[in-house]
Amino acid sequence: MKGTIAVLPGDGIGPEIMASAVRVLDAINKKYHHTFETRDGVTGGVAYDKFGVHLPEETVEMCKKADAILFGAVGGPVSDQESPRWKDAEKNVILGLRKKFNLFANLRPLKVWPGTEIFSPLKPDIIAGMDVLIVRELIAGLYFGPMRRYEVDGEITAEETSRYTWKEIASVVRIAFVAAQKRRKRLTVVDKANVLETSRLWRDVARSLHTEFPGVEMDFMFVDNAAQQLVRSPASFDVIATDNMFGDILSDLGGAVVGSLGLVPSASINDKKFGLYEPAHGSAPDIAGKNIANPTAQILSLAMLLRHTYDLDKESGAIEGAVLSAWKAGKKTKDLAAKGEASLSTQEFTSCVIERLK
Ligand code: NAI
Ligand code: MG
Repeated sequence: MKGTIAVLPGDGIGPEIMASAVRVLDAINKKYHHTFETRDGVTGGVAYDKFGVHLPEETVEMCKKADAILFGAVGGPVSDQESPRWKDAEKNVILGLRKKFNLFANLRPLKVWPGTEIFSPLKPDIIAGMDVLIVRELIAGLYFGPMRRYEVDGEITAEETSRYTWKEIASVVRIAFVAAQKRRKRLTVVDKANVLETSRLWRDVARSLHTEFPGVEMDFMFVDNAAQQLVRSPASFDVIATDNMFGDILSDLGGAVVGSLGLVPSASINDKKFGLYEPAHGSAPDIAGKNIANPTAQILSLAMLLRHTYDLDKESGAIEGAVLSAWKAGKKTKDLAAKGEASLSTQEFTSCVIERLK
């Protein structure tokens, strides 16, 4: 198969872990006789230095010509968010790309493979078998509604509005139903319908769509309870569908539950096969340039890209299998190693994965 992938490494550890993913793509090209090509684009601080903006038009144009975007991470040190180079970098790039490509749904698989229970802070018997897919709405709701700050009788006041249309909810819930159909056929819609009108609309839409997916069992859960259940019995979930803010929070919680954000890939997709694939974590400036970052989330984001944009299940599964096999052989980066335990550099771990792909 032929294809063109836009590669946007970004800032911090982005370029280091992206180098790993590109090496894995080369190995896939060779092994399965594909000719996937990559085109590099600048975003974030690097783009700011060159063009004075975080998301240059030429990067966007380049992405438009590609089949998919493989994204690293953007953003500067947490202590330096106000300098022009970093101010709003993540927002400008990520929210910008989501809007420009109508990437309305975010898929985040949270999976604990047999043998990797030990990465989790939870007890092995609780975490065993966890395999959850969170489907989060990405371009509406509280994060995209009108926001303002104003004064009432001299009192500083701030507000934002969460707004959802039937159609916006339906597109996301449909993706969740389709995913559940291919998995263990269970969908949990997470909301706060005891308080919020948008949540009640989510329930109405989900009930209405359910008639098209009679083979999928559906239930509803309040978000506060869902947070608790993700910790108490994470293996009880299959697919979760939820709104933008609840999904943001629950998916980071889920990342911590599986052991490290460095393990969690994600896909932001539209109604075509186009998607932006990126690790769940940020640019980790605290460890940038040291060749110690865990490239797993970036490599698994490539696996999601191959599966979702190109329907290459076999290649995608081979990458996941190679990562798992490396871990089983005791190969791991510093974030996963116990105190005093030996660890591999980013590129050494990548080599272990590639050896197992061949
Ligand atoms: P972060 O996810 O970058 O880092 C949090 C902690 O996890 C750090 O201690 C970091 O060293 C560690 N970590 C993250 N990824 C790792 C990996 N692959 N291997 C080993 N350790 C890893 O989040 P933080 O520190 O809150 O934000 C740093 C910057 O990243 C900020 O500028 C923020 O705006 C940006 N950011 C960008 C995102 C994106 O590009 N999609 C998403 C989240 C944050
Ligand atoms: Mg987040």
